[in-house]
Amino acid sequence: MSEAATDRQPLLGYHHLRYHVGNAKQAAHYYRTAFGFTPIACSGPETGNRESSSWVMAQGDVRLVLTAGLLPGHRVTDQHHRHGDGVRDISFAVPDVDAAFAYALAGGAKPVTEPYEIGDDRGTARMATVASYGDTVHTFVDASGCTGPFLPGFRAVGDTGKPDGLRPLWTVPPGRSIGITGIDHIVCNVPLHEMDVWTEFYQRVLGLTQLVHYDDESVGPQYTSMMSKVVWDGTGKIKLNVNEPAQGKSLSQIQEYLNYYGTSGVQHIAFATDDIATTVTRMREGGVRFMRVPDTYYDEVRERADVDALGLDLTALAELDVLFDQDEDGHLLQLFTEPAQDRPTLFYEIIERHGTRGFGITNFKALFQAIEREQAARGNL
Ligand SMILES: [Fe+2]
Repeated sequence: MSEAATDRQPLLGYHHLRYHVGNAKQAAHYYRTAFGFTPIACSGPETGNRESSSWVMAQGDVRLVLTAGLLPGHRVTDQHHRHGDGVRDISFAVPDVDAAFAYALAGGAKPVTEPYEIGDDRGTARMATVASYGDTVHTFVDASGCTGPFLPGFRAVGDTGKPDGLRPLWTVPPGRSIGITGIDHIVCNVPLHEMDVWTEFYQRVLGLTQLVHYDDESVGPQYTSMMSKVVWDGTGKIKLNVNEPAQGKSLSQIQEYLNYYGTSGVQHIAFATDDIATTVTRMREGGVRFMRVPDTYYDEVRERADVDALGLDLTALAELDVLFDQDEDGHLLQLFTEPAQDRPTLFYEIIERHGTRGFGITNFKALFQAIEREQAARGNL
């Protein structure tokens, strides 16, 4: 079933995530020093783009494009004004942009940009964009004809763009990798009663199938209540989770997100690592703050799992606030950062998987207890 679905809308993987930020130059510095990304390409007035400035950040299979508007009233500037820093575009690499776009429209997606070609002296790329939840979009990309550092129009960091050896426009040291290998999953928040709308959208538009459904019984701490569904491509390359608030006792953290972002949007991105202790230690050294986990959580872990048999040093994991979960397929280690900007919107997860396809469901209670403490500290509970 899922294989047939993938055949209908063959997604090769994520191509990039485009963020709209207030200051791309400073955001690039943050993702380099705190997350270990290396700036590989830039676009801006120096490359003939007079309306926005973009930095492309790379680590493992991940490409983040940090884009800031340069002019008042520009679309990027306006969207940033409404939402703050956040993810604008979850972009997919596809073998045939026109076919992907046609399939998406047939599934009910609204067109944003019809298929078009861009090119420069390093080749061409074909792209098309459809609307998704809130102000989020999905761009289908075929960059197989492009030999440049990213897409046409971008120049490599350190490249003068001139044959006469002028000083490069952008000279930025590479990041020190923290071991991020790829994107494990991407989670969005949508309003009450819209979870099914958007998971069905993904099934029709991206050919994904449902992997798992968490109802509010399984995710029900005291104040925060939510429901979540996950759709995937059948291989694990693409996993998209959709959260909606349930009728909680107080302000759901999903609703808090919607209030501050102004609409539906990306809540967190889970980066995969093979060595969570090193990844998290380096992020902490870079100044990233993580959600604190109640001490009693680790007593519960010792009761429900034979961590010694798995070769896990629980004391070391507890010092890093790393969470543990296990099912019949294996186990995982994960933890969550605080929001990456002033608004309580986008945050990150770091995840190390050993067999399981789960998302840490038994950690949800511990996690949300931690989230609710943060929410109370902001006066939103
Ligand atoms: Fe997650």
